Amino acid sequence: MALLNLFSLYIFFIFFVSTQGSTLLTESESSASLSSSASSDVELLLGKIKASLQGNSENLLLSSWNSTVPMCQWRGLKWVFSNGTPLLCTDLSSPQSTNLSLFKDPSLHLLSLQLPSANLSGSLPRELGEFSMLQSLYVNINSLSGTIPLELGYSSSLSDIDLGYNMLSGSLPPSIWNLCDKLVSLRLHANSLSGSVPELALPNSTCKNLQVLDLGKNKLSGTFPEFITRFLGLRELDLGDNVLSGSIPESLAALNIEKLNLSHNNFSGVLPVFGESKYSGEVFEGNNPGLCGLPLKSCTGSSGLSPGAIAGIVIGLMAGAVILASLLIGYVQNKKKKSRGESEDELEEAEDEENGGVPFGVGGGGVGGAGEGKLILFQGGEHLTLEDVLNATGQVMEKTNYGTIYKAKLADGGTIALRLLREGSCKDGSSCLPVIRQLGKIRNENLIPLRAFYQGKRGEKLLIYDYLPHRSLHDLLYETRAGRPVLNWARRHKIALGIARGLAFLHTGLEAPITHGNVRSKNVLVDEFFVARLTEFGLDKLMIPAVADEIVALAKTDGYKAPELQKMKKCNSRTDVYAYGILLLEILIGKKPGKNARSGEFVDLPSMVKVAVLEETTMEVFDVEVLKGIRNPMEEGLVQALKLAMGCCAPVASVRPTMEEVVKQLEENRPRNRSALYSPTETRSEIGTPF
Ligand SMILES: *[C@@H]1O[C@H](CO)[C@@H](O)[C@H](O)[C@H]1NC(C)=O
Ligand SMILES: *[C@@H]1O[C@H](CO)[C@@H](O)[C@H](O)[C@H]1NC(C)=O
Ligand SMILES: *[C@@H]1O[C@H](CO)[C@@H](O)[C@H](O)[C@H]1NC(C)=O
Ligand SMILES: *[C@@H]1O[C@H](CO)[C@@H](O)[C@H](O)[C@H]1NC(C)=O
Ligand SMILES: *[C@@H]1O[C@H](CO)[C@@H](O)[C@H](O)[C@H]1NC(C)=O
Ligand SMILES: *[C@@H]1O[C@H](CO)[C@@H](O)[C@H](O)[C@H]1NC(C)=O
Repeated sequence: MALLNLFSLYIFFIFFVSTQGSTLLTESESSASLSSSASSDVELLLGKIKASLQGNSENLLLSSWNSTVPMCQWRGLKWVFSNGTPLLCTDLSSPQSTNLSLFKDPSLHLLSLQLPSANLSGSLPRELGEFSMLQSLYVNINSLSGTIPLELGYSSSLSDIDLGYNMLSGSLPPSIWNLCDKLVSLRLHANSLSGSVPELALPNSTCKNLQVLDLGKNKLSGTFPEFITRFLGLRELDLGDNVLSGSIPESLAALNIEKLNLSHNNFSGVLPVFGESKYSGEVFEGNNPGLCGLPLKSCTGSSGLSPGAIAGIVIGLMAGAVILASLLIGYVQNKKKKSRGESEDELEEAEDEENGGVPFGVGGGGVGGAGEGKLILFQGGEHLTLEDVLNATGQVMEKTNYGTIYKAKLADGGTIALRLLREGSCKDGSSCLPVIRQLGKIRNENLIPLRAFYQGKRGEKLLIYDYLPHRSLHDLLYETRAGRPVLNWARRHKIALGIARGLAFLHTGLEAPITHGNVRSKNVLVDEFFVARLTEFGLDKLMIPAVADEIVALAKTDGYKAPELQKMKKCNSRTDVYAYGILLLEILIGKKPGKNARSGEFVDLPSMVKVAVLEETTMEVFDVEVLKGIRNPMEEGLVQALKLAMGCCAPVASVRPTMEEVVKQLEENRPRNRSALYSPTETRSEIGTPF
């Protein structure tokens, strides 16, 4: 309400001043000899605007704004008539381009004022806010001084503003956000603006058209203007080189900003978790040394806590969404711990029952840890750096509904992946351990091995895997960064076959078969030779039913859930096959299945294929990258793969093939041209595909 009153007061004020102004104008600018007493855009321009912009000295470009010169030769201006037709000045033979009395036409309105690098040395006149149809104002790279007038924010049509590289000072007027709905770009780079970034007038505004906000290289202070994170259309944000402090809000990661610069401020705290390698360290450099998290240094505990204490707070840190974890890993191999002192522990009892479950460090060696919880090592666990007590520091890679995944650095420079299970998992230690033990035994080229399991004194549970620096299949398929490998059919086939082999191994290659339970492109890591490795398998067995069912709910949202699957308890090899079918379609079509996060639309890949087959446009469903270099899709096994995927997605579970059959079919229908497989350096940018 207060705002509204202010606004009406302001309208009155402007009206009063501008009528005064026009009187002055007709007196001083006799050459203009305007008969009308209302101030037209032309009058404003020749009067206040020109005088203010040029300052104390005559300006070459501005001197063209003169009634003795045809309007079409006035520099840096575009005009439009009230009815919306633009004044065309491009055709020099048109009568308008030489019409000397055009400037008297009151129906002419200023559309744009663009005078970059024009040696302007005055200031910004507040009358700039009065042009009713002015859309763009570019007076960057000049020597304008003074403040940004409050009145600029009351302009009715401004959508693009560039006042960059001037000497503007004072604070940014709050009225600037009145333009919020229309604004597409606001560039104020390299001035001397101070104070804090003003709050929005209407807290609900989202400035939905705003794509570029550049406030860099000023003297802005205060905290990160968090409301910016509601500007969902933002593509470019520069707050660099100011004196902003405090933390960078987590919500910033939700925006899809392509060009970000937060460097050279005094930001501190923990960086939001941006998508993998979205931004380089440069974007955040030169801030408070306390600023940490990817892509900057990891947030290591500088707290002086003992390693033991740090291990104890792993759980607490997770709850606080802090991206720091530290854990103890007992050194076992060289320093065999004789004592299994705390043998009353249920965990160890279970271990004793299950004989031969610890292939590595048998005879008590598998458990250790300075009196702080226990570590069970599995085959290959010797890759863990084993020193007396290890203090591994980690960064959050991902949060899932059943826990948090960390990338953790060992003291010797090695890296491991940790899955900290959420509370509610593994409630009952004795029923849990056999599952862990079973998972620890699984070794297959296409499955990421579990190397160790840690249970803390307070019940925190960590699964320790090899860390693979590879991208997930999901990222490979959808990331839009240049430099990614081209995913031609030969490569996609290899990935699909790798996944199929991994699943077949789980279903039939083990003494006690297990189901994966969470097959999706995000749970497949692909190395530089296109070997696929599945992760997350069997974890549903460690969850209490409520948490496990959340995996089902997520699978439903993301389109991987078999129609008959209602409860995770009921998941079986056929539901894995269904999810694999969707994944294979994803690989062939290059589209994300399930509910689109942006549009909310549900992408049903099997239906898409059915429609395409009916309409005889089957070849069009394939990702264009897949078809590259393919002459005969039948001979190359492409059509067979599509059929196979559709078979896996059959609504009736009993008609789906087994994973072994899938492997067999993929092996029988290989792409002929597999040379591309052997040039792993071939990337998308080199090929020049539009991805
Ligand atoms: C407009 O141009 C004429 C001729 O070049 C000049 O005599 C006059 O002073 C100019 N008027 C203004 C207001 O600059
Ligand atoms: C010049 O422009 C004025 C105002 O738009 C118009 O009334 C007049 O007819 C034009 N003269 C010529 C020669 O086009
Ligand atoms: C720029 O303006 C200054 C006065 O402000 C003047 O001395 C100088 O000659 C102008 N430079 C150019 C290139 O017009
Ligand atoms: C947004 O505006 C609506 C009404 O216009 C109001 O009900 C709601 O509380 C506002 N939300 C916020 C976050 O201010
Ligand atoms: C960010 O802004 C600073 C200061 O304006 C500049 O030096 C730096 O090159 C910019 N960095 C990026 C990545 O754009
Ligand atoms: C930066 O922020 C810290 C607090 O986080 C403060 O102590 C320090 O004075 C600030 N430095 C500058 C240059 O503003």
